[in-house]
Amino acid sequence: MKTIITGDRPTGKLHLGHYFGSLQNRVKMQYDYDTYILIADVQALTDNFNNPDKVRANVKELAMDYLAAGIDPNHSHIYIQSLIPEIAELTVYFSNLISVARLYRNPTTKHEMNQKKELFGEAGESITYGFLGYPVSQAADITALDGEIVPVGDDQLPHIEQTREVVRKFNNVYGETFKEPEAVLSKTPRIKGLDGNEKMSKSLNNCIYLSDDEETITKKVMSAVTDPNKIKKDDPANPDVCMVYYYHKLIDNNLETICSECKKGERGCVACKKELATALSEYLKTIREKRRYYEEHPEEVEKILNDGTEAARNRAKEVMKRVRKNMKLDYFE
Ligand code: TRP
Repeated sequence: MKTIITGDRPTGKLHLGHYFGSLQNRVKMQYDYDTYILIADVQALTDNFNNPDKVRANVKELAMDYLAAGIDPNHSHIYIQSLIPEIAELTVYFSNLISVARLYRNPTTKHEMNQKKELFGEAGESITYGFLGYPVSQAADITALDGEIVPVGDDQLPHIEQTREVVRKFNNVYGETFKEPEAVLSKTPRIKGLDGNEKMSKSLNNCIYLSDDEETITKKVMSAVTDPNKIKKDDPANPDVCMVYYYHKLIDNNLETICSECKKGERGCVACKKELATALSEYLKTIREKRRYYEEHPEEVEKILNDGTEAARNRAKEVMKRVRKNMKLDYFE
């Protein structure tokens, strides 16, 4: 079985962007791969170093979202990054193999830096060593467990590409040690927000969370952007520019009828939104109920994290023996 390594930063609850972007893929793939899912608390601290409470609180929230969405602890290991010191060690070795200029060229880091002006300055002049370098640590996340397949959203592609570069460089300098991992995208690697923005994102406040209840979903769906040319209820409209239709498509709900009624002006936006809210709420119902179960059984979540972390650590220890040997650091072995 090939090995999957993937994960998220514990900075908030998971939303539809995470689910359709990669989580659903991970759930499907876990039965055919040796799957390790990382809660990247160290990475979360790179832009939340001044907010440890937030990171701490979201570790369990993220674990519960994973479990609720169908990550099965009998098939996947969920583990906490900071409890695998081997990853930190490998990050240090990798940091010699990539230039600062290359890190500055990473479009995802650059975009995030520009979104965080209060932390990193207007033009990124106060960017920290840790934040600029987090893709190096992500390369270590993946390789410290011999990861081969990385199911992620498309914003992560630059990081996987950098991981592959670091691996090539490492193998060149110290001899064949790691395989180059491959990213796997879902059919919908980027999900739009309720406001029509290209990306559903917590910082844009345009998300539907997996844990949202029916009332919240309804309120949010009512605010979704529709065809601006449709003024009256019976104006014909273009579903292709409507976020409500976009989400109907995402969950494959009654598409033919909705599309033709909308185009003919036989469907008002309010009714269409109500239909979406009901369907979405139904779609997320199992996830919500499973989540409630884990909220009521925190000791189970803790055990899953503990076991997952132990399994990941054992694996990382083995990999690091090989790394140290190849780097001539195996002094007393
Ligand atoms: N950068 C990822 C995100 O922001 C999280 C992450 C950390 C990750 N380490 C990883 C993803 C390793 C895949 C593999 O969502």
